[in-house]
Amino acid sequence: MALLSIRDLAVRFAGAPDAAGAVAGVSLEVDAGECVALVGESGSGKSQLLLACLGLLAAGGRASGSARFDGRELLGADGAAARQRGRGIGLVFQDATGSLTPHRRIGTLLAEVAVAARGCPAAQARQEVGHMLERVRLPDPARWSRAYPHELSGGMRQRVALAAALMARPRLLFADEPTTALDPTVQAGVIALLDELRQDTGMAVLLVTHDLGVAAALASRIAVLRAGRIVESAATATLLRNPRHPYSAELLAALAGGACA
Ligand SMILES: Nc1ncnc2c1ncn2[C@@H]1O[C@H](COP(=O)(O)OP(=O)(O)OP(=O)(O)O)[C@@H](O)[C@H]1O
Ligand SMILES: [Mg+2]
Repeated sequence: MALLSIRDLAVRFAGAPDAAGAVAGVSLEVDAGECVALVGESGSGKSQLLLACLGLLAAGGRASGSARFDGRELLGADGAAARQRGRGIGLVFQDATGSLTPHRRIGTLLAEVAVAARGCPAAQARQEVGHMLERVRLPDPARWSRAYPHELSGGMRQRVALAAALMARPRLLFADEPTTALDPTVQAGVIALLDELRQDTGMAVLLVTHDLGVAAALASRIAVLRAGRIVESAATATLLRNPRHPYSAELLAALAGGACA
């Protein structure tokens, strides 16, 4: 049985003009220890798919279908019930800034995650913070763990948001564009970290990106989303060698163009 099994997931927003819906019947599986990438143009439904699974759609948004994590149905709950069902799933939001509590120092914030999610003793949690900040390639962890989120650059906040999600030691990580705001060397480090964690801890990753290069580096399978539907899903090597859908071919061509630029 897959760790995450999504069947016919649809998301609609009340009053939205789009008849098909933001997500229009997606089925997708992620096995334990596997990384699956969801790629697709802006507005294709990538973020709403993840948010729907965690009961985090904006007001007016409604999900239908099924999303089972470790055998438990995730849909049909919100608030505390949704958090309980989604225990074990970590989320790195696309907007890292919004996901960090503004009045908490970075170190406190990260330690609190370990305490709340794993019952980790406070002293041990504080020790883990420095190590985790190092792992996400944040320079001078001792200094930055005393800082507040607004004192960090966008790329630093993105790494802190990733660190916060990882402090919970999730079995499945939803990572929504986790490397977009990063410069190429830091991006490579974060990609290596995610891959290392997947291999060392068996953490599965559902990675959202519109960068096929990042998807190729991390994922064993790629699903291409367009207008709320999966238009192609294949093993990474197969999709890169022989994209079947014209849109996948376009994405690949854009990647090749970017690599030569
Ligand atoms: N609160 C909302 N109300 C109405 N429609 C919404 C709302 N949030 C998102 N949508 C619509 O849902 C669709 C999918 O959005 P989604 O955020 O999933 O895109 P995405 O693939 O993540 O794009 P990006 O790459 O830009 O992040 C879009 O057409 C968007 O306009
Ligand atoms: Mg998005």
